[in-house]
Amino acid sequence: MERIAIIDFGAQYNQLIARRVREQGVFSELLPPSADVSRIRGERLDGVILSGSPDSVYDAAARRCTEEVFNLGVPVLGICYGMQLMTHMLGGTIGKAPVREYGGAFARLNTARVMCPLFEDMPDSIVWMSHNDMVTSVPEGFLTCAETDDCPNCAMFDPKRRLYGVQFHPEVAHTQYSAQLFKNFTRGICGCGGDWRIEGLIDGIIDEIRKQVGGGTVVAGLSGGVDSSVAAALVSRAVGDRLTCIFVDHGLLRKNEADEVMSFYRENMGLNVIEIDAKDYFLTRLKGVSEPEQKRRIIGDSFVRMFEQEAKKLGGADFLLQGTIYPDVIESGSGGASVIKSHHNVGGLPEKMGFKLVEPLRPFFKDEVRSIGEALGMPPELVWRQPFPGPGLAIRILGEITEDKLNILRESDYVLRDEIKKAGMERKIWQYFTVFTGMRSVGVMGDGRTYDYVIGVRAVVSTDAMTVEFADLPAPLLRKISSRIIAEVPHVNRVVYDITDKPPGTIEWE
Ligand code: XMP
Repeated sequence: MERIAIIDFGAQYNQLIARRVREQGVFSELLPPSADVSRIRGERLDGVILSGSPDSVYDAAARRCTEEVFNLGVPVLGICYGMQLMTHMLGGTIGKAPVREYGGAFARLNTARVMCPLFEDMPDSIVWMSHNDMVTSVPEGFLTCAETDDCPNCAMFDPKRRLYGVQFHPEVAHTQYSAQLFKNFTRGICGCGGDWRIEGLIDGIIDEIRKQVGGGTVVAGLSGGVDSSVAAALVSRAVGDRLTCIFVDHGLLRKNEADEVMSFYRENMGLNVIEIDAKDYFLTRLKGVSEPEQKRRIIGDSFVRMFEQEAKKLGGADFLLQGTIYPDVIESGSGGASVIKSHHNVGGLPEKMGFKLVEPLRPFFKDEVRSIGEALGMPPELVWRQPFPGPGLAIRILGEITEDKLNILRESDYVLRDEIKKAGMERKIWQYFTVFTGMRSVGVMGDGRTYDYVIGVRAVVSTDAMTVEFADLPAPLLRKISSRIIAEVPHVNRVVYDITDKPPGTIEWE
């Protein structure tokens, strides 16, 4: 398998680099800076990318890779901090940029006397910048090959050693011709054929699970969503009936969800699924709690306690299967990036638990998980279900959770889903849901004054939940949604539409 390793120095969007490489048909994954290069050497390696970072190369605690990376004989591309680190380690110099460049900048590409293969078929164009430091002199053997008005060494390369650096961020969609740059690096420079497809990984994933689990038993937390279901389908192929699935109804599900999910599993998946009614347990533990991270930790802990209790009844289990995917890991702060929110299944897990974890989907993005699901022959209704977070409606009610608020949220969400379905837009929108804002406002209904709750409507488009845009829902549809929610859901007199992209917002409100 062709493979490009990304050394992760902790910038928030580093996993997008992996995505861009995979889009070129080459497998790619992030490794910590301490990664043992000889281990990487043991497997096929076609190139290395050094990522961005919040560090500055002159910080005492700045993350570094080993010198060996530059002597592996494979091409290396440094991005932003990666370029600066390459410069610093190979004898060039770094200084503070006179102005902090942030946002789009016009770059003149291919300014060196010889053509830089990284920029083949790329005209001068807008690139995305985000940096405080910059390269002030390139190391020996390197040529400067791009510039912006504020950054004279915007890219560099050493044609002999096949080392490349760009100060801008090609992984960000705002960089024009970014796909061409990744094509040039993976295909042209690293010489990859680009025939990696996610489906080709399935047998390998199943083998890995067998190795990890050995003769042990596994309980799986099934949520009804695509991640946990694909994870369970893979483990079931690996260990057969040594897998027991548990569906926990934590009282934070959407209208009719528990029944629909259970009957779907029974009819379509051939899995052994036990349903647990844990509504009282979760809601009691969440009583009086309004801080989002605390909610997440309580929910993460409560899930594990339920799985432990159920496993005990089954005579014990060695492993807990979770459908954790890559963005859950990154946003929960693993790998050095800062914590955005503790996903219940990563940062929200208790320190002590009676299981080891199996997480076969940890390296993958949602759309890749969907491709695995399709390749496994799973039903399209499941594979294309909109994502629903493990903590459920708890993170869509701002403030304390009560039964009354849950009811209002469920009913309004039901109306929204019904209207999106009728408009035939289910597959076009990544996620759509309502939010209980907790605010009350004055309105007029019939001839009287009302003082009731404000419901937020969120609908976003995305490919991987890492970056999203709010969906351009047609005004007549928005009007229909609003009037139906106000007419059908008691105690709601105002509906607002959330017009925030991610970043700077996140998809969920908490
Ligand atoms: P945010 O709100 O971070 O969400 O933009 C990104 C994606 O992750 C989902 N999400 C979660 N999923 N456990 C989950 O299983 C969690 O704790 C959690 N928090 C957010 C969210 O619905 C969106 O798809």
